[in-house]
Amino acid sequence: MIKHGIMTLQRHIMEQERKFPMATGEFSGLMSDLAVAAKILARSVNKAGLIDVLGFTGDENIFGEEVKKLDILANETIIHALDHSGHLCVMASEESDGLIEIPDYHPVGKYVMLFDPLDGSSNIDVNISIGTIFSIFRRVTPSGKGTLADVLQQGNQQVAAGYVLYGSSTMFVYSTGQGLHGFTYDPSIGEFLLSNEDMKIPEHGPYYSINEGYYHRWSEGMRRYVSYLKEEDPATGRPYSLRYIGSLVADFHRNLLYGGIFLYPTDTLHPKGKLRLLYEANSLAFLVEQAGGLATDGVRRILDIQPEDLGHRVPLIIGSKKDVELAMDFLRES
Ligand code: AHG
Ligand code: MN
Ligand code: MN
Repeated sequence: MIKHGIMTLQRHIMEQERKFPMATGEFSGLMSDLAVAAKILARSVNKAGLIDVLGFTGDENIFGEEVKKLDILANETIIHALDHSGHLCVMASEESDGLIEIPDYHPVGKYVMLFDPLDGSSNIDVNISIGTIFSIFRRVTPSGKGTLADVLQQGNQQVAAGYVLYGSSTMFVYSTGQGLHGFTYDPSIGEFLLSNEDMKIPEHGPYYSINEGYYHRWSEGMRRYVSYLKEEDPATGRPYSLRYIGSLVADFHRNLLYGGIFLYPTDTLHPKGKLRLLYEANSLAFLVEQAGGLATDGVRRILDIQPEDLGHRVPLIIGSKKDVELAMDFLRES
């Protein structure tokens, strides 16, 4: 229930920052720039079929994946919306090789931003929800341009995280560690308006989300867990329904609102998991914990994993608290 008339994203960010007496306004400035980038991206995504941004570029990214034109457009849009602002000292992105430095002719600031410019690339050309995921940290180096040390921080050091979901409407969902809040874009006034205040994820079910085509590549424990979810037992709400879009951010968003679990475990093809700690897992882990859920790699809390390099991959099990705890029990026993 919304208690305060129209709450724009802008106003919300300012009110959250005002709770910190030492705040300089720099953080609000950064988030405002991000919101502008989100609006530009929403426009590009919505027009994707009309402008020449569908299909592949012919290149591979640092993870050896084929790059879509919209991946690159989104990457450049975010970089150019933020590099001149004076709020950031360095950025890193799933679609950029190495660190994204702030150019010499722009000032540097105290924040670090990591992002997946477009998550769910395989869904771009078929009009299915995709998203942008971001994490913001405070720098750990004292001054000048940011370095790898600023970027390779544990997720528990995030000062904010969020995502933009380009779905049947565009949503901006974020947290600064004071609850998780969702805003829906109203294109007629060009504003994100508070639509989901202080979101909480249900304690369990009814959905599970996993690429079940890889069943034969999973560990024994993972197979047993998924078989368990399919058993008939109305007392525990089973069988769970399978929902898997293939855009992490969209699968996450649905499970956040309705309850359930998303899993991208290790398998014989992805011995370290597929998803990226810095650009995908950390952000969503921070958000799910704000909503009362959990995120683990099967053993460790995602937010406590020390990133080894920019491309660090992790298995990801994320969602409703009871579901994640039970999945960990099954994996431990295997
Ligand atoms: P990205 O488009 O940023 O490369 O991420 C794709 C990810 C994630 O969004 C999704 O959950 C997963 O890859 C799907 O992988 P599979 O096709 O192997 O299921
Ligand atoms: Mn992704
Ligand atoms: Mn991506």
